[in-house]
Amino acid sequence: MTEPRWDEHADWWQREFTDGVDPEYVEQIIPLALAHLTGFDRVLDIGTGEGQIARALAARGADVVGLDPTGSQVEVAVARAGGPSYGRAGSDGLPIATGSVDGVVVCLVFEHVDALDESLAEVARVLRPGGRFVLFLNHPLLQTPDSGMIIDHMIEPPETYWRIGAYLREAVTVEEVKKGVFVRFVHRPLHRYLNGMIRAGIDLVEILEPAPPPGFLTKAPEYEADVVSTTPRLLGIVGDRRSSPR
Ligand SMILES: C[S@@+](CC[C@H](N)C(=O)[O-])C[C@H]1O[C@@H](n2cnc3c(N)ncnc32)[C@H](O)[C@@H]1O
Repeated sequence: MTEPRWDEHADWWQREFTDGVDPEYVEQIIPLALAHLTGFDRVLDIGTGEGQIARALAARGADVVGLDPTGSQVEVAVARAGGPSYGRAGSDGLPIATGSVDGVVVCLVFEHVDALDESLAEVARVLRPGGRFVLFLNHPLLQTPDSGMIIDHMIEPPETYWRIGAYLREAVTVEEVKKGVFVRFVHRPLHRYLNGMIRAGIDLVEILEPAPPPGFLTKAPEYEADVVSTTPRLLGIVGDRRSSPR
């Protein structure tokens, strides 16, 4: 199921990333989710958290179910209401009938989940043929453990570049994302996600690599560096459930 850390730190997530306070959600993630799920009316939001994407879809008229294994996320999702219905479940065992949804969204969840292939098989199972899958990840190439902006003062003038960590090594890391807040991440290379989807029966429709949005780039003076504004933080993978076997 889930990691106890999500129960401990749900309030951190809710305070810092939801309810309109995070520009990456407001300016980028939620609009992209809405755009790529247009016309898909029964939607499942896996790892829904406190439900910000589920609510946005419901506000547009979709019939939405949000699932998350973390009690302290689902409680807040229910309290924030706005249309979706909610339940507690992990991504590798969805209490949803086979072929019963038109769309699935999974946002910043699978990088915390060990059972990736089982979870992708569940996404494919619940989608109707031709149904839409929208997956958002912290960019698995450019946001690996130990990646980040480096200013090299050993050369004149100092050079600013983006360091990439050990990309091919699949690794579990526990990162202190803020003082006292520890979050567990599972890093895996991009091909693990794409090949897992293809094997599960989901065909690739589009890859999204948006630049960090303006509201993020103005958060700190160092984010003005060209290397930050040209390095995507988010990866979106859009796929459709294959209608017939290959
Ligand atoms: C970074 S939050 C994202 C929440 C929401 N998708 C959003 O974008 O606002 C990650 C969420 O993944 C959930 N999660 C952790 N393990 C999970 C699992 N095995 N299956 C489904 N969700 C899981 C956590 O409880 C947490 O709510």
